[in-house]
Amino acid sequence: MPATVIVGAQWGDEGKGKIVDLLARDSDLVCRYQGGPNAGHTIVVDGETYKFRHMPSGILWGKECVLGAGCVIDPDVFIEELDDAEARGLSTERVRISGNAHVIMPWHVAIDGASERRLGRLQIGTTRRGIGPAYSDKASRLGIRVQDLFDAKILRQKIEVALDEKNLWLERIYGAEPLDLDDVAGRAERWAPRLRDHIADTSLLVHEALRDGQAVLFEGAQGTLLDLDHGTYPFVTSSSPVAAAAATGIGIGPNRIDEVVGVAKAYVTRVGEGPFPTEIEGPDQERVRELGGEYGTVTGRTRRCGWLDLVGLRYAARLNGFTAVALTKLDVLSAFERIPVCTRYRLPDGTETREFPAHQSDFHHAEPVYEVVDGWQAELGDCVAADELPDAARRYVDFVERELEVPVTWVGTGREREQALAR
Ligand code: GDP
Ligand code: IMO
Ligand code: MG
Repeated sequence: MPATVIVGAQWGDEGKGKIVDLLARDSDLVCRYQGGPNAGHTIVVDGETYKFRHMPSGILWGKECVLGAGCVIDPDVFIEELDDAEARGLSTERVRISGNAHVIMPWHVAIDGASERRLGRLQIGTTRRGIGPAYSDKASRLGIRVQDLFDAKILRQKIEVALDEKNLWLERIYGAEPLDLDDVAGRAERWAPRLRDHIADTSLLVHEALRDGQAVLFEGAQGTLLDLDHGTYPFVTSSSPVAAAAATGIGIGPNRIDEVVGVAKAYVTRVGEGPFPTEIEGPDQERVRELGGEYGTVTGRTRRCGWLDLVGLRYAARLNGFTAVALTKLDVLSAFERIPVCTRYRLPDGTETREFPAHQSDFHHAEPVYEVVDGWQAELGDCVAADELPDAARRYVDFVERELEVPVTWVGTGREREQALAR
């Protein structure tokens, strides 16, 4: 598998980090192509927990790691992650960032928070890391890019021009504190020396790796239903997590991608606001949350929990072109005697559909139609091969595979690196 995209199939937090870690051992390069520190990828190795926000999960195997032009970078977070990784004995020498990636500046973080506060009940529930404001400025062609950090004079000018406007917004529109030019400029000047050795022409680097027959992983952040174009707008992120974005976000042709692995939980979670047809009503929601440890990696927020939604998953298979699926956290469902799986939606006009509604109102009012399947009520954590899974657990996975018409090649049975079974 020379070029493989690992993409979230739901609303994020599917366990992408763990699957990337699994596949990274036999890869040469691991690349992030979109998103920023809104991501939180958790990997557990021998009882030790690693949480990455910017850093590609390939860092654990000492692989060459790339942050492409499609990412937005908060230098404070990134530098903290470099320092943390080094303090834990991981080499960061081969971590490369694109000079074309946009920088999340302090005003982006301030505006993200202020805008959410102003929206009040109508808020999106963002991670408040400045993601939306940074991508907005990029699209408006007002952004500051990583390469701009290396010319102190131009950088200060850009910051001055930007702050003139951003402080007006902060003070007049949002009633928030303005930012101080010297503070911001001083902070930004300290980034360059720490980042300098990590800047590279990442499009060229990935191109050459593929040309030389190396194995490259593209690690998606967020998930398909958070995609700016195809997700549940406006309750989405401001980038495109779908697999095709790996090509634009890195700067390679779409025909270079060989495989697309969709990562899906055996159930569903969502953080933040927005419609969620299979959200569980009653005490089972809390049970899934506790058993699955469903609290945000970045924000610590409780994740909303729902039963597996095959309508959403079939949509994700279509949007991404999955060649395989990794079904994670099957062990979390071990506690349940009977497990509902949503196979269709009932729409407001009474009709039923297997396709994801194209119109937002249909989706907002969609009622899940469930098939209830038998649980297995047995621990899965000690299974070392897929054929050791209890019959009912195997039937659950077969059912998903049949409905998606995509092979499920990995099943997650616990948090540890080894707890993922190949099928
Ligand atoms: P990501 O953002 O897609 O990388 O996912 P997160 O790391 O935010 O959330 C997934 C959580 O589930 C992490 O705490 C993982 O350690 C954990 N996890 C991943 N796979 C499994 C699994 O198969 N079983 C269990 N119990 N936990 C898992
Ligand atoms: P990983 O990579 C889950 C959600 C936020 C919010 C919406 C917009 O760990 O799967 P943003 O800060 O991006 O403007 O927030 O998107 N969101 C995530 N949910 N996992 C993530 O990343 C997410 N990144 C953003 O909760 O609803
Ligand atoms: Mg996450």
